Amino acid sequence: MFERPEHGQAVILASLDFGKEDYSESLSELELLATSAGLFVAGVVEGKRGRPDPALFAGSGKADEIGDAARAADASLVIFNHELSPVQERNLERRLQCRVLDRTALILEIFALRARSGEGKLQVELAQLRHYSTRLVRGWTHLERQKGGIGMRGGPGESQLELDRRMILTKIKGIEGRLEKLAKSRAVQRRGRQRGGVFSVSLVGYTNAGKSTLFNTLTHAGSYAADQLFATLDTTSRRLWLPEAGQQIVLSDTVGFITRLPHTLVSAFHATLEETLHADLLLHVVDSASPNRERQIVEVEKVLKEIGAEQVPRIEVMNKLDLTSAAPQVARDEYGKIAAVWLSAKTGAGVELLRGVLAEFARDQQHQTSVLAAQDAELSQSYVETNLDGLE
Ligand code: GTP
Repeated sequence: MFERPEHGQAVILASLDFGKEDYSESLSELELLATSAGLFVAGVVEGKRGRPDPALFAGSGKADEIGDAARAADASLVIFNHELSPVQERNLERRLQCRVLDRTALILEIFALRARSGEGKLQVELAQLRHYSTRLVRGWTHLERQKGGIGMRGGPGESQLELDRRMILTKIKGIEGRLEKLAKSRAVQRRGRQRGGVFSVSLVGYTNAGKSTLFNTLTHAGSYAADQLFATLDTTSRRLWLPEAGQQIVLSDTVGFITRLPHTLVSAFHATLEETLHADLLLHVVDSASPNRERQIVEVEKVLKEIGAEQVPRIEVMNKLDLTSAAPQVARDEYGKIAAVWLSAKTGAGVELLRGVLAEFARDQQHQTSVLAAQDAELSQSYVETNLDGLE
């Protein structure tokens, strides 16, 4: 139902500064997102405003400037660095005479390109259907002849007009049902692992922080790592033998987070992110060389909170140390608890320290499990004794 972007398609980016401190970061991120989606950024039109215009988001003068830029660059697509209401999107398309997408739709598109597992694909399709179901409005005829870029099909005979909202809702229900079943079988697998006392570790972090690279370095698994946003979409799990702890752990790589991660995505990816929720330990991978690292840390913490994972024990992995002047090290907090490990997933410097830390956590958990098991045994023993006492 959704059309893939044409590789190399020219786009104009439109970005308005409302005085927020993360403005320039969000714009460079948008450029990276567009390139990650295989698009060619032919130009960027910026502006300043107090607040969005209800009808066009930008002012009418700015909107015309964006339209001119698109025509001059022969770009058939304009992407706004913001969330647009369906009405704004429609008005803009009429005014600019080309396809308009918002930031959410672009991120959804990248997710659609990257999803590999059946479950990942279903999750993205669900998020896209939810996003576009509010945009199925009459009056798109002027666009029908234009071969659409990314987004819904815009070709003749397959216009949005024919996509009945009710049909989409039925489809959404169907996908939700299938995802529910998959989530159940995932839960069964997880319970199996928990019963088996397997220590599970999830890698979380801002997109491009180096999670997949670290996953590969730790497991030598060859999972996909690329300098693209959201290269990894689906949760990949591998067993990893830790001789130091004398046991196996399960390591999972997860989807990367991003500033203003669309809500539709967080909810659609709940099943995958749930893996994070049930981990014994989270490794929060941070690009320590990024000038935006503090803000990225905060964004990740926000998403973790949103999915209810803030209680899971967590350590920070300050990655890409080769790009900084820092030395491999383990940092502890004032109570002596491990807080962060400085390493480079690429060169391998400091990775041994992390293995040591994982072994320490795994041993601790093993210890706690055996203490609990002993307590359980004691309890049931005293229960038996009490009941036998009662019989006498
Ligand atoms: P998403 O899938 O987008 O969430 O990204 P990710 O966090 O899995 O990042 P990935 O492992 O794909 O790495 C992103 C880029 O950073 C790649 O180009 C890696 O080669 C690079 N990278 C990862 N770790 C290091 C490191 O320690 N040092 C340097 N210099 N580059 C690194």
